[in-house]
Amino acid sequence: MGQNMIFDTHAHYDDEAFDEDREELLWKMKEQGVEFIVNVGASIASTKKTIELVQRYPFLYGAVGIHPSETEELKEEDMLWLKKASVQKDIVAIGEIGLDYYWPEPDREIQKKWFIRQLALASEVKLPVIIHSRDAAEDTLEILKEWDKDKTGGVIHCFSYSKEIAREYLSMGYYFGIGGVLTFKNARKLVEAVEIIPMEKILLETDCPYLAPEPYRGKRNQSGYIDFVAEKLAKLKGITKEEVLRITSDNAKNFYHLK
Ligand code: NI
Repeated sequence: MGQNMIFDTHAHYDDEAFDEDREELLWKMKEQGVEFIVNVGASIASTKKTIELVQRYPFLYGAVGIHPSETEELKEEDMLWLKKASVQKDIVAIGEIGLDYYWPEPDREIQKKWFIRQLALASEVKLPVIIHSRDAAEDTLEILKEWDKDKTGGVIHCFSYSKEIAREYLSMGYYFGIGGVLTFKNARKLVEAVEIIPMEKILLETDCPYLAPEPYRGKRNQSGYIDFVAEKLAKLKGITKEEVLRITSDNAKNFYHLK
């Protein structure tokens, strides 16, 4: 796999699942063909760890933000802190932010409030956003339509909706984060959506340690496994895996403004 150029656009190497061997694993990424990684914050604590990781590894960039499930206790002063974090070197996005109605808490109004607030922050600091949206398609679209005039670009991470919803996001210029789920046997809905999404709008991601692709489903995920997602995507699009990796890597560099 040496010459592949994997760009993992969404990872959580701050997660305790990597406490045992984080150093070793990350320093060996190049050997697996992994060129760049964006580590994504999901809480104040994981955003702090993200900043530490970004300072330590030259191939690693960071996103700072609060996941909808972590918004219960948020305060406006946390947004000041987040703003300062967002202007640090090699911080390339605000995320992950959004709505998660799979879980009953926090209350939907609280989630919406902080989603909207962090979108405003992204506009202020001119960074693209990484959006987490689960069982919340309508409200997410409504909020993003509201944000449209101030938008700074965004990716719908771990896209899990229908091809009809995909068309809506496409018309608004969004990218789609595609990962291990694409390789699952029950991925029919995602396969249908991916068939109508142009290659230029796809970013590859792990969401590691979660969502490892086949044949590692259920195990700890890591950026090298994106190779299996690229292979499946190549089959669906009728192009080579090398083309998939090249195009999606270019997409990621454009999306995160890395040149
Ligand atoms: Ni994530």
